[in-house]
Amino acid sequence: MVVYVASSTAPVNIATLKYWGKRDKILNLPTNSSISVTLCQDDLRTLTTASTSDLFENDQLWLNGEIHSLTSERTIMCLNDLRMLRKRLEDNDPLLPKISTWKLHIVSENNFPTAAGLASSAAGFAALISSISKLYQLPQSASELSKIARKGSGSACRSLFGGYVAWEMGELDNGEDSKAVEVAPKSHWPEMKACILVVSDHKKDVPSTSGMQLTVNTSDLFQYRIKQVVPNRFIEMKNSIIEKNFEKFAELTIKDSNSFHSVCLDSYPPIFYLNDTSKMIIKLINYLNEKNGKLIAAYTFDAGPNAVIYYLEEHESEVLGLLYKIFNKVKIGWENYKNLNKLSNFDN
Ligand code: PMV
Repeated sequence: MVVYVASSTAPVNIATLKYWGKRDKILNLPTNSSISVTLCQDDLRTLTTASTSDLFENDQLWLNGEIHSLTSERTIMCLNDLRMLRKRLEDNDPLLPKISTWKLHIVSENNFPTAAGLASSAAGFAALISSISKLYQLPQSASELSKIARKGSGSACRSLFGGYVAWEMGELDNGEDSKAVEVAPKSHWPEMKACILVVSDHKKDVPSTSGMQLTVNTSDLFQYRIKQVVPNRFIEMKNSIIEKNFEKFAELTIKDSNSFHSVCLDSYPPIFYLNDTSKMIIKLINYLNEKNGKLIAAYTFDAGPNAVIYYLEEHESEVLGLLYKIFNKVKIGWENYKNLNKLSNFDN
């Protein structure tokens, strides 16, 4: 029996400029470019081991110890692409073992609680693509592979990299120019920190694919966002990262989170991802920034109520200290949210 094996990891990525809207649902082509910042590369990641053998009878997946078949349309599309690239190598090199037709066994494991409400599909698809590409010894770059991961789950393309990543939306109908590129590695800005506030570990009410379609089809504000707002913001956010301008980065991150949740609210019927605790966190970060007379922290929320807070190391004790003070002492609820109108409470 011959078995070939390879392993790879991929991180969960958090968008600071949100992808929301598809111009092609099958290829997952977006209506706007986006940016993510991944600082918790090792804390929140998927580890995937891919193996292939002439004796395997089916493509099979073990996800966090549970067995699944690999039959979803999106997964099949990714596997077909990878097998085709391997086949091309085999056709050009008669010495290479002919493994592109063999079945695959995939073992995948998250090192964070799957129930934490954090998007795990991005890390999952990215780790799947990168482990199989390693197994097949494909020469393609991470950017090239990101086009395959994108077909699995749009935002997965950004998880092929850590650090600061841009997903260029592209213009072509076949998606060949819709790929992730590195803006800067994590080491470029070692002072940048992130903290995740898990507000709820429930599954999101409206899955991202159906939410996006509702917004694309019904929101007027959405057209303004993708045409008038995001193109400039994409350039400005990349520059703020390259120049390590935290205040600019924070302003753009906050504004983009607000803009994304506004188009959700402008959808018909409206989509609500933020809850009262999320709104309390927004108030808290605004309070911190106002108190300091400059932006020392930024919040962002994906398609759910959980927050990611970005700040510089020099402000860590102030940011985390306040969050700890509030959330350790306060049992969150509507009454407390109302109390936050009295912002002086934070100083006590
Ligand atoms: O890739 P999806 O279908 O999980 O959509 C991700 C959508 C957001 O998380 C809200 C934004 C983003 O860019 O990641």
